[in-house]
Amino acid sequence: MPLPRPLEDRVAIVTGAGGDIGRAIALRLCAAGARVCPVDLATIATDGFPADRVLPLACDITDEQAVGDLVARVVEHFGRLDILVNNAAAPFHSGAVCDTPPEVWRHVLEVNLTGAFLLCRAGIPHLRDRGGVILNIASQLGHVTARGLAAYSASKAGLLSLTRSLALDHADEGIRAVSLSPGAVMTDRLIRRAGSKEAALAEHAPRHPVGRIGTPQEMAEAALFLVSDAAAFITGSDLLADGGYTLK
Ligand SMILES: NC(=O)c1ccc[n+]([C@@H]2O[C@H](COP(=O)([O-])OP(=O)(O)OC[C@H]3O[C@@H](n4cnc5c(N)ncnc54)[C@H](O)[C@@H]3O)[C@@H](O)[C@H]2O)c1
Repeated sequence: MPLPRPLEDRVAIVTGAGGDIGRAIALRLCAAGARVCPVDLATIATDGFPADRVLPLACDITDEQAVGDLVARVVEHFGRLDILVNNAAAPFHSGAVCDTPPEVWRHVLEVNLTGAFLLCRAGIPHLRDRGGVILNIASQLGHVTARGLAAYSASKAGLLSLTRSLALDHADEGIRAVSLSPGAVMTDRLIRRAGSKEAALAEHAPRHPVGRIGTPQEMAEAALFLVSDAAAFITGSDLLADGGYTLK
């Protein structure tokens, strides 16, 4: 039986699609019928995507002009824009507050928070045409924090707040804004940080009451729900997909 296609005709931009979670989300939205522009600093390989429904583009989301050009290209190519997924994130930095170089702090906030703001600012005028959805990929570390992760946690807490402002400021234009807060997810990013897959599991699984960490596919399923009409009455809120990490 063919999969249901709740996003038939919709057009989505997914940033950070070169990473495992962004790629899984972009692929899932495509499988649900959307036409998708996966974005990263360099153009991503599109194996696995239907060729007629994908437009991979390179864009530095901290560059206001480049983000404006990105949105214009997507609207020109697909004729509309319905969904923005702000998923890109700066490379991981850990260090206590006083060991965080100001340029690292600025870069993390610039990519994780200001980049999302810039894409919303450029994209919302098009979403206004027929309503639309903004999904910000936050983190369990936007709700709580962990030692040595001040810049990352602040950026993700900022995204939760930006989500609420977007939802309130644009509700009467038919636009919804939601966020998804993953717990640890088995991605290259996590493996790089821990040194190996085994080390990533050993470090992170015990912190999650369910006894394991998440998968990119689980995040993609949650993302699909949030951007689909099944979530039409949900706006301004965050979905924690964190295996219970924040319960303790
Ligand atoms: N992996 C996890 O355990 C985990 C947990 C909680 C939240 N998250 C969040 O999920 C999202 C995806 O995580 P991931 O593990 O796939 O990360 P990742 O680091 O593999 O992917 C992030 C992507 O963003 C891109 N990027 C960085 N700066 C950019 C810029 N200026 N312009 C455009 N693209 C840029 C990178 O090139 C990279 O491909 C991130 O927002 C991350 O914070 C991940």
